[in-house]
Amino acid sequence: MSTTSADGTTTDPAGTTPAADLIPAPRRVIPGGDGFLALGPATALVAGEGAEGTARWLRAELGAATGLPLPPADSAGAGAVRLRVDPAVASEIGAEGYRLDITEDGAELTGADPAGLFRGAQTLRQLLGPDAFRRAPLPGREWRLPLARIEDAPRFAWRGMMLDVARHFMPKEGVLRYLDLLAAHKLNVFHFHLTDDQGWRVEIKRHPRLTEVASWRSRTKWGHRASPLWDDKPHGGFYTQDDIREIVAYAAERHITVVPEIDIPGHSQAAISAYPELGNADVVDTTALSVWDSWGVSENVLAPTDEVLRFYEGVFEELLELFPGRFIHVGGDECPKEQWRRSPLAQSRIKELGVSDENGLQSWFIRHFDTWLTARGRRLIGWDEILEGGLAEGAAVSSWRGYEGGIDAARAGHDVVMCPEQQVYLDHRQHGGPDEPVPIGFVRTLENVYRFEPVPPELTVDEARHVLGTQANVWAEVMESPARVDYQVFPRLAAFAEVAWSELPPPDDRDFAGFERRMTTHYARLDAIGVAYRPPTGPKPWQRRPGILGRPIDGEPPRK
Ligand code: ACM
Repeated sequence: MSTTSADGTTTDPAGTTPAADLIPAPRRVIPGGDGFLALGPATALVAGEGAEGTARWLRAELGAATGLPLPPADSAGAGAVRLRVDPAVASEIGAEGYRLDITEDGAELTGADPAGLFRGAQTLRQLLGPDAFRRAPLPGREWRLPLARIEDAPRFAWRGMMLDVARHFMPKEGVLRYLDLLAAHKLNVFHFHLTDDQGWRVEIKRHPRLTEVASWRSRTKWGHRASPLWDDKPHGGFYTQDDIREIVAYAAERHITVVPEIDIPGHSQAAISAYPELGNADVVDTTALSVWDSWGVSENVLAPTDEVLRFYEGVFEELLELFPGRFIHVGGDECPKEQWRRSPLAQSRIKELGVSDENGLQSWFIRHFDTWLTARGRRLIGWDEILEGGLAEGAAVSSWRGYEGGIDAARAGHDVVMCPEQQVYLDHRQHGGPDEPVPIGFVRTLENVYRFEPVPPELTVDEARHVLGTQANVWAEVMESPARVDYQVFPRLAAFAEVAWSELPPPDDRDFAGFERRMTTHYARLDAIGVAYRPPTGPKPWQRRPGILGRPIDGEPPRK
């Protein structure tokens, strides 16, 4: 039996979610009336060719949450859940799309491809209600799906989140949990920021000191960079190559591509502290450097030598074995040029290369790895600074300093991922109130993120085709625990996911009130998973930060 509430929404005592409450919103929902499809111990899960992975995932996840065995079957009996892949859905609805038909006779989920089928499985789980996100079944709970037909496909092919595990290490289990959270929001790219001044996080067998030395720092600036406090204990950790294989495989099962980032030629102090010959040893005593313990942008950058190129070719060779995705991120952001200005070696390199100044050295690094990666069938992507000094053909750009880099890149025929810091940097605080933990950056509310538009109006239709998509970036200077990451990321990642997946109206016309209404159900899903999101009413007492860490610091530059 269903009941209709005063505002006209229909709810089911079993907790089923109306199709209209999905996040991200699907392209088209055709309600099928007031009835339900009941799932029980005998409900079979029938997987056609190409559907085996999604069937395994559904059986594991829904099995844990509902206690239903969802036994396999060769042919569909009445009431079964049937999964199949049919490429015709791609032309009818879109690549990575799906159609879900729920009638009293059963549920039929058809993906345009295996990824589309998996996205449809996320919808199916949401329709069972928030309890379908629990790790163990509630006794006596009934399981039903609302009758409906849903047709759905993503707006963008690149729907990502970047996680900085260099500033604060997140152990493997936490990363796997985040892959599940990305999957639940129909996101499909995990940009893994693996190296920075404050730590190196991936095992490179031919350069063991990168993890023996560069993965640990002796202490950590506690809070904002203007804070006078340090956490006086060592911080660190790294992923073994087996860990990485497990992460990549786990992501692949969820149709998520992992894009690894090794940041060069700046943000390299940790690597230099392990291998001093990588730094500008003619102007600083690089043997005296340690893994950085503060925040900001270190002056200690790579030396522009052939030896450094060979060293990083070795790093990337091992990386290509671990990460099968097309794109490899080489960073390229925030590379201070002061050491190169003072270094006789760098200056003679400028002359030898015939470039006009230090920007030419940066561009030389990036072009080298663009050619190197292209020769190995991969594509380079870097932060928008890689446009300075001329960008190698085929390189793609993560536009972070605003839209401008992305606009320039798209106009020059380069692919772009839009991630402007003013809009989708989730380290920025989400409220201006005094209780907000750690006053980083601009205030960017849930509504601000919901009204983010990845394609700027300046681009023509042809230029806009170069916008592969968008990603939210999670820089972890002030996120020393998974709970702090959750707080910054959620609920805003839910709004971001809808921006990346759904066909929304222009920013000012978006129905934020409607989104907030749907978020009521989504908060219940996040509660069932155990996500420590920022509540709409503000931080819980344990999420606040006392004293200096909780006060905005006037005059501070926006971010780090
Ligand atoms: C960046 O935020 N430095 C890419």
